Amino acid sequence: MPELRLRTSDLLLRPTTEADLPAVAATLSADATINPRLPRFSALDESTSRAVSAHQSYWQSVGNWSPDSWRLDLVVTLGERIIGVQSLEGEDFLVLRTVDSASYLARDTRGRGWGKQARRAVLALAFGPLGADYAITSAWHHNAASLGVSKALGYKPNGESRERSDAGPGADTMVHLRLTRTDWEASGHGASVKISGFERCRPLFGL
Ligand SMILES: CC(C)(COP(=O)(O)OP(=O)(O)OC[C@H]1O[C@@H](n2cnc3c(N)ncnc32)[C@H](O)[C@@H]1OP(=O)(O)O)[C@@H](O)C(=O)NCCC(=O)NCCS
Repeated sequence: MPELRLRTSDLLLRPTTEADLPAVAATLSADATINPRLPRFSALDESTSRAVSAHQSYWQSVGNWSPDSWRLDLVVTLGERIIGVQSLEGEDFLVLRTVDSASYLARDTRGRGWGKQARRAVLALAFGPLGADYAITSAWHHNAASLGVSKALGYKPNGESRERSDAGPGADTMVHLRLTRTDWEASGHGASVKISGFERCRPLFGL
């Protein structure tokens, strides 16, 4: 889906390509787990490990894509620079009409409202042309920035769970949140997002 573009006041989001992967790897840091389900290679140095993760994650999302189970990875760009990745996921989307999301930004670009802009962009895609009814998300209870983005965009509490920690042995609390179409539309948050190039992507979502 090379033509899809999501524009916010400062950012452009577009589907990740293989050529983007070195720049994507460069945005990763120790606190930005690209995908907790990826294998870890403890003998690799940090930068090689990030590059492997960026490539495996990309190929997984492309190789496993189906209308019943998809993950759209968009690079978040500020001018010419790739500053992070914003993902949107759908499992059994045609029935559940629910999307999940995940994101990370390079450390030096956080805390300036761009995390909110990137999330708002994919929510506009989800509640707009994709026709979602719900957006869910999850974050560790101590991840104030991720929880802050969700709360600012109108997500409401949707329970907690105990999960194996990805920061060490033992378990920790994962907080779940949910945004309804009604709350999204009432918020007007989608108005500032411009979406183009979606029509040719529609069949890939089974729509
Ligand atoms: C999560 C992430 C993408 C958010 O991007 P960001 O640019 O930092 O977020 P923004 O500046 O757009 O917004 C953060 C919101 O959380 C709030 N926030 C941030 N840190 C906070 C803190 N320590 N305490 C309370 N609120 C906090 C901000 O005030 C803001 O909300 P507001 O506009 O209502 O005030 C980014 O921090 C990141 O890459 N983190 C590491 C990876 C990660 O944890 N990803 C999510 C995995 S679930």
